[in-house]
Amino acid sequence: MEMQLTIKIVHMTIALLLAVVIIARGFTLFVGVQGNQPNPIARKLFVMLQHLSMTMIIVTGIIALFLKNFTVAPWFYAKILLFVVLFSSLIKAYKKDDSILLAQRRAGLAIAVVALLAIMILVLVKPTFG
Ligand code: HEM
Repeated sequence: MEMQLTIKIVHMTIALLLAVVIIARGFTLFVGVQGNQPNPIARKLFVMLQHLSMTMIIVTGIIALFLKNFTVAPWFYAKILLFVVLFSSLIKAYKKDDSILLAQRRAGLAIAVVALLAIMILVLVKPTFG
């Protein structure tokens, strides 16, 4: 039980870190942009923090699944789907490819923020379907 709680607290704390990183990095798509590329300031730091938080969320999430013997509520599947949306839209937003327009990057960021908000609402409300 204690292990379960610890993992859950780490999971939630890192999720908060991810939210902060997404918002902070989001500014690089609006301030000091270079053509179609985001502001290069602190790029390495953002990439590092984003990779770290994403990896930690997935690892702690999978550990939590094992500790719960995979007994999940239906809304959990919606959360995983939204996480995939979050993941892929962030890749779209920050890919180094110069053919991705700034407007497309900003759209990617907008989708990522909506997906993250939806995940947070899901984990807070824990809706029952049907
Ligand atoms: C940005 C993405 C995510 C956020 C913001 C997030 C947030 C949360 C929060 C706040 C809780 C606690 C809910 C509660 O019991 O009150 C939780 C639980 C959980 N999360 Fe996530 N999560 C994310 C991604 C993931 C992913 C990708 C997985 C699976 C690989 C996952 C697996 C789990 C599991 C299994 C629990 C239940 C833990 C338990 O009840 O002991 N989460 N998550």
